[in-house]
Formats: sequence, C-alpha cells, structure tokens
Amino acid sequence: MAIWRKAALAAAICGTLAAFGGLVGSDAFAQADAIKARKDGFQVFRVSMGAIKKVVDDNGPAANAVAPAQAIAGTAAKQVAHFPAGSDKGETKAKAEIWANMADFTAKMKAAEDAATALASAAQAGNMDAVKAGFGALGGTCGACHRAYRND
Ligand code: HEC
Repeated sequence: MAIWRKAALAAAICGTLAAFGGLVGSDAFAQADAIKARKDGFQVFRVSMGAIKKVVDDNGPAANAVAPAQAIAGTAAKQVAHFPAGSDKGETKAKAEIWANMADFTAKMKAAEDAATALASAAQAGNMDAVKAGFGALGGTCGACHRAYRND
C-alpha cells in the first residue's frame, strides 16, 4: 500500500512540476514571440522610411511613397499589441517605462500611424511639398518615442 501511495504522490508532484514548467515555458515563448513580432514591425517601418526617403531625395514620383506610407500606418495599428506585460525582458531594447506609461506609449504609436496616413494621402494627391513635410513629421514621431521608450 505504502509504495503505491508514494508512487502516486511522486506522479502528482511530477505532474504539477511539468504543468508549472510548461506554463513558465509558454509564457517566455509568448514574450519572445511578441518581441520578435514587434521587431519585424519596426523593420517594416525602417524599410518603408528608406523607400519614402528615396522619393524625397529624388523629388518624386510621389506615387512611390503611397505603398510604404500605408505599410507604416497598417503596421503601426498593430504594434502596441506586441508589447504585452512582461516583455521588457529578453532580447529587447524596450524600456520598462513603456508599461508604466502605456497610454502615452499608445498615443505616440498613434501619432506615427496618423502621420503615415497623412503622408499616404499627400502622396496619393501627388503633392510633393506635402510628402516632404510629411516625411519630416513622420520621422519626428519615430524619434519622440525612441527617446522616451527605447534603450540605445
Ligand atoms: C510608440 C513608440 C515607437 C514609435 C512611434 C516608433 N518606434 Fe521604433 N522602436 C520602439 C521600441 C520600444 C523599440 C525597441 C523594440 C524592442 O527591442 O523590443 C523600437 C525599435 C525600432 C527598431 C529596431 C528593431 C529591431 O529589429 O530591433 C527600428 C529599426 C525602429 N524602431 C524604427 C522605427 C521607425 C523608422 C519609426 C517611425 C516610422 C519608429 N521606429 C517608430 C518604439 C517606437
């Protein structure tokens, strides 16, 4: 009898540990996935800004700035979701201040999204002056957030 009770107890402990280990593991995985997802998003920002800069440097064609500006706006709309609580740990330059100031962080991401949407409209209208001004304004939203919430 006693040996069965011990075996059962051992099995119960193992099961609990396995479940606990699984939970901790999947949590860490979820955060690593979120970090990867937001970095992928920021890479879309970077590549798209490069494409828009080329349009600015070449003084046109404005139409070439439409797709990259829309890519930034669409990506920005999904970026904050990739900052779940606890994802300031790991391979990340995100500052812990983000989670203490989530409303401000969200507003700063929205500012980038709105600037990108305005830039896409200017590009669609073929207005190069507005594309150039919009490029500067959009770049300003990147820097404003990085200064506050990204480690160098
Ligand atoms: C609302 C805040 C916010 C805005 C707006 C923002 N960024 Fe960032 N950016 C971050 C944070 C935080 C990180 C660090 C992410 C990490 O390491 O987990 C980052 C990282 C990056 C990276 C590095 C990604 C990597 O692979 O490690 C690039 C490139 C980047 N941002 C470009 C941009 C550009 C270009 C813009 C503007 C179009 C922009 N960001 C706007 C907060 C922002």
